[in-house]
Amino acid sequence: MTTWLITGTSSGFGRSLTELLLERGDTVAATLRRPDALADLQSRHGTRLWVRTLDVTDTPALRRVVDEAFAELGTVDVAVSNAGYGLFGAAEELDDAEILRQLDTNVVASIQLARALVPHLRGQGGGRILQLSSLGGQVGFPGLSVYHASKWAIEGFFEAFGPEVAPFGIQTMLVEPGMSRTEFAGSSARIGAPHTRYDGGVLRVDSVAREAMPGDPRKMARAMIAAAERDQLPARLSLGSDAYTMIREALQTRLARLEEQRDLAFSTDADDYRPPPAA
Ligand SMILES: NC(=O)c1ccc[n+]([C@@H]2O[C@H](COP(=O)([O-])OP(=O)(O)OC[C@H]3O[C@@H](n4cnc5c(N)ncnc54)[C@H](OP(=O)(O)O)[C@@H]3O)[C@@H](O)[C@H]2O)c1
Repeated sequence: MTTWLITGTSSGFGRSLTELLLERGDTVAATLRRPDALADLQSRHGTRLWVRTLDVTDTPALRRVVDEAFAELGTVDVAVSNAGYGLFGAAEELDDAEILRQLDTNVVASIQLARALVPHLRGQGGGRILQLSSLGGQVGFPGLSVYHASKWAIEGFFEAFGPEVAPFGIQTMLVEPGMSRTEFAGSSARIGAPHTRYDGGVLRVDSVAREAMPGDPRKMARAMIAAAERDQLPARLSLGSDAYTMIREALQTRLARLEEQRDLAFSTDADDYRPPPAA
């Protein structure tokens, strides 16, 4: 039996992960802004569901909740940094406060959670951190620019943070789902701009029909759990046919564009530069 800590468990992936883990007998430290959303699971699973109210953008509270989870549950084997949402709107038209809120939630809170976990995971000899990124952490759709900025930012953080904490037995994995049938494009979506000048040119949240989204949140949560239990976590886990297809195409295009620039890139080295010997 393992112990998990998951943020943003009121709906979507967080809720599906919590349900599946409790059903199979694990213990879950679930954090959320609306604790009543887990009342049904609490009455069914008792003390195996440990719940704390947490807005992840409140850093002192986030640190307190992480400390309490380790103190009260003994160990946390896997932490899932899941809380997040999408801000829809053309960049020019977005509200300043909405931009900061998006970055605070999806980037700063995820970084602060990772930082709060490290001393505890190192102290217990290791552990695992899953970070919800997105298909949107590898590609960009007009109309979601600040959301993409947040997911590309957290990808960059984990690219460096993963190897930093690996010597402590801490493994990390970025999860990259495609469009999925959660509340992401429903009640959780923030519409940050009126689209007065950009109609037609940007992705509108109401243009994405639920049936057109491939991702089944429960199947994806099951895949996250299975991947989290591999001996060696993959650095990235792409979920959904759209994620696989679009990420593959984006990477191929970027590699082809990079290759075209090889000679130009090398031509700008200093005349006396000698590359270090290959390891
Ligand atoms: N669904 C997709 O298409 C998709 C695709 C790729 C990646 N993702 C990522 O998956 C993660 C989970 O989203 P989801 O798709 O499961 O959507 P969801 O059903 O809307 O769930 C999002 C969860 O995050 C919580 N949350 C948002 N801001 C928070 C805050 N400041 N403090 C604490 N909790 C907060 C929400 O809580 P409240 O109920 O209190 O708002 C909710 O529990 C997000 O990081 C999202 O970017 C989603």
